[in-house]
Amino acid sequence: MIQSHHYGPNYYKLHSLPVPRPGQILGIVGNNGIGKSTAIKILSGKNPPDWQEILDHFKGTELHNYFTRIVEDKVKVTFKPQGVVNVPTVLQGNVGQVLSKVHDMREMKQELVAELDLIQLMDRNVGDLSGGELQRFTIAFNAMRKAEIHLFDEPSTFLDVKQRLKVGRVVRSLVQPNNYVIVVEHDLSLLDYLSDQICCFYGRRGLYGVVTLPVSVREGINVFLTGFVSTENQFRTKPLKVLEGEYTDSEIIVLLGENGTGKTTFLQMLAGHSEPDSGEGSDVEILKFNVSYKEQNPLLIEHILDKEYVDLSGGELQKVALALCLGKVSYVIVVEHDLIMLEYLSDFLLWESWLKRFDV
Ligand SMILES: Nc1ncnc2c1ncn2[C@@H]1O[C@H](COP(=O)(O)OP(=O)(O)O)[C@@H](O)[C@H]1O
Ligand SMILES: [Mg+2]
Repeated sequence: MIQSHHYGPNYYKLHSLPVPRPGQILGIVGNNGIGKSTAIKILSGKNPPDWQEILDHFKGTELHNYFTRIVEDKVKVTFKPQGVVNVPTVLQGNVGQVLSKVHDMREMKQELVAELDLIQLMDRNVGDLSGGELQRFTIAFNAMRKAEIHLFDEPSTFLDVKQRLKVGRVVRSLVQPNNYVIVVEHDLSLLDYLSDQICCFYGRRGLYGVVTLPVSVREGINVFLTGFVSTENQFRTKPLKVLEGEYTDSEIIVLLGENGTGKTTFLQMLAGHSEPDSGEGSDVEILKFNVSYKEQNPLLIEHILDKEYVDLSGGELQKVALALCLGKVSYVIVVEHDLIMLEYLSDFLLWESWLKRFDV
């Protein structure tokens, strides 16, 4: 397979790029740290290493057409980055002023401002906006412009369920028969609503990323949830055959193996936390030991300990922030929009209207 991009030797490598089609919205989904943002940055055509090399490399493919249009037509590209916190360093002034400087070629300004709940923010300084406000403002700024290529990296971050749907409508309104719209998104309902086709990223967090060819929305979401691509069956491995071994007293045994091959499951079975289910060996009785079992670091931060803070992906930054937060002795209060997460996390819910009643 062709290696499309790497961040230097021994760093993350991206092995292929998603293939966009004109007139269709391409949704991109995949676990964090696997190269989605890297890929969408490459598709934005900014800071290319060498155009001729890129064009030669993709000759005869759909991506060749895409990059040729970027090089030859000098097409307009809008790019909503994943982290919106840096937006105020680029777009300065108050919301109304910044938006009035954009040429409203699609004559959509009033509609966008209303749809994205920006009316009451028009006099607010961009630097004073909250995360969600900044997200909606940046999306409006990009959606006002008429562009041949619209790219959105995680447009739902910081937004509540209703605002996510509105963003979905805005993004869908951008498709034209001959332009490209590409969206990286984790919220599966939004992805389902937005996309005409889906590309799934897989690989190893922080090490390498590969992307599937575009498939239908239903198939793409299925591939992401089950981790199995029928045409590229390396995505997640088939059940493995494990050979029997032996151990005696006073021995330290080290388990070594690739991720996903069953090390944790095996330890959990020894610890009595899970039972063998079916198949070969399931009838073997596992002796009861006194077992002390240290769980894996659930945030998996070890592999990023040597990285520079500025190079971390959005998800990696989120984990560092979580680790810092969890390291303090405190009461636990979680603010969350994802309803599935809420149900899992909460003992009880505090509605915003109650907070208002108590003047919080
Ligand atoms: N400038 C950089 N230098 C080195 N590593 C980087 C740089 N930018 C991103 N990475 C690494 O590349 C990997 C993929 O990052 P990213 O594309 O942001 O993932 P995703 O968007 O899928 O979460 C991560 O391990 C990240 O730490
Ligand atoms: Mg990302």
